[in-house]
Amino acid sequence: MFSHKVIEKNSILMLVLTLLTVSIGGIVEIAPLFYLESTIEKVKGMRPYTPLELAGRNIYIREGCYNCHSQMIRPLRDEAERYGHYSLAAESMYDHPFQWGSKRTGPDLARVGGRYSDEWHVTHMRNPREVVPESVMPGYPFLAETELRVADIAADLKANRAVGVPYTDEMIEKAAEDMLTQLNPDADGVDEFMERYPKAMVRDFDLNPDKVSELDALIAYLQMLGTLVDFTSYDPETSKR
Ligand code: HEC
Repeated sequence: MFSHKVIEKNSILMLVLTLLTVSIGGIVEIAPLFYLESTIEKVKGMRPYTPLELAGRNIYIREGCYNCHSQMIRPLRDEAERYGHYSLAAESMYDHPFQWGSKRTGPDLARVGGRYSDEWHVTHMRNPREVVPESVMPGYPFLAETELRVADIAADLKANRAVGVPYTDEMIEKAAEDMLTQLNPDADGVDEFMERYPKAMVRDFDLNPDKVSELDALIAYLQMLGTLVDFTSYDPETSKR
């Protein structure tokens, strides 16, 4: 009889048996992942960022907004009531790196798109205390003054494609042009742009049509966050692409 007492009194035997048990558990958990095509369920509505949104995302990362803001609504009732439907894995499938964050000095931003007007964002980014008197968020007034770099955005799309974002050759070729088109509803290429990026918002985001600023890109990014998946018709079983 192999009694438990024997194992407990022999540390080497205990170690060997522990390792054996843990390895079996590990294999059972990990091995299936090698046979799945994807661990992310695809969801209707998700598309890669437009060049302007991607530039805004780069500014978000550069300025360290993630130090105070998360972008992941957890499936808990208080979170869903405050921020909206819990985040789906697919909603960050084109994020390299993801912006889930680990700290919430400010609110979660995963669904901030459309919650405020562009005007609110322009004021808030210049000086948060003008719209939220008790805010501890720093102001970023220089974003409205800083010209947005347009020329190297194609390289950015390419880099994202290298890690799996499905940007087409056409999207890369037209990246710089698309960036400016998104800021100008009267531009010639708007229809084509909208075909490439469904649901994209086309307008001058920083309310200053004379300048293509970093604030344009950042607000374009904030206003699209969480707006791609239509949750009024979302059903986990039928919404797959
Ligand atoms: C020091 C922490 C801190 C940093 C850094 C920070 N924020 Fe905030 N943010 C806050 C706090 C606190 C609030 C809530 C009060 C307010 O609305 O100003 C907030 C609110 C917001 C809101 C409104 C969210 C809502 O649902 O009401 C947006 C949008 C936002 N921040 C964007 C940004 C962006 C973009 C950056 C980077 C350029 C940034 N924040 C950097 C702390 C921060």
